[in-house]
Amino acid sequence: MTFDDQEYLQRYPFIERILISSEDIQRRIRQMGNEISEVYRDTVPIFVCILKGAYPFLADLTRCVAVDHEVDFMAVSSYDGGTQSTGVVKIEKDLKSNITNRDVILVEDIIDSGLTIDNLMELLQVRNPRSLRVAALLDKKPARTKDVPLDFVGFEIPEEFVIGYGLDYQEKYRNLPFIGIMKA
Ligand code: IMP
Ligand code: MG
Repeated sequence: MTFDDQEYLQRYPFIERILISSEDIQRRIRQMGNEISEVYRDTVPIFVCILKGAYPFLADLTRCVAVDHEVDFMAVSSYDGGTQSTGVVKIEKDLKSNITNRDVILVEDIIDSGLTIDNLMELLQVRNPRSLRVAALLDKKPARTKDVPLDFVGFEIPEEFVIGYGLDYQEKYRNLPFIGIMKA
């Protein structure tokens, strides 16, 4: 835990504990960046940041990638306004890039049920990318209802609600540099 993490904990008393410290996140992202640089050394991939949650991860991950690449952004939402993800996604903001014959890496903050990413991949496959892979910082594996192959994963986490590093609770706390668990 860094001094910063400690300071945030004092300022946000409703955070019960830190699940993954900012140091651990950054160390793991450097490893992921190396791995991705190896896989894509002969091509120029497009990193697609799934808004909003993945923005810190995209920024840190791409700065650890040592091959030429492009970035683009996409926003999706679940069709029903309920709390449970249905996986039927609606594109709120589409890509600017044409991904046909391109190597695409979907950058996600967390894979929970897996329904969102599964549905999104189906939507993007229709555009005939050369390859379509997923880089997720967090994999909440026990919550998975849809089996989705994840290519690059930062951390597997238990079935708990987490905040920080892009992940929100009612649109807040995305700024925290670590992954934390809120008090019940
Ligand atoms: P899925 O379709 O169930 O995989 O939904 C994944 C989406 O739910 C993520 O992109 C997050 O926006 C949100 N989500 C899932 N678990 C958490 C959590 O623990 N904290 C914050 N958001 C979460
Ligand atoms: Mg999200």
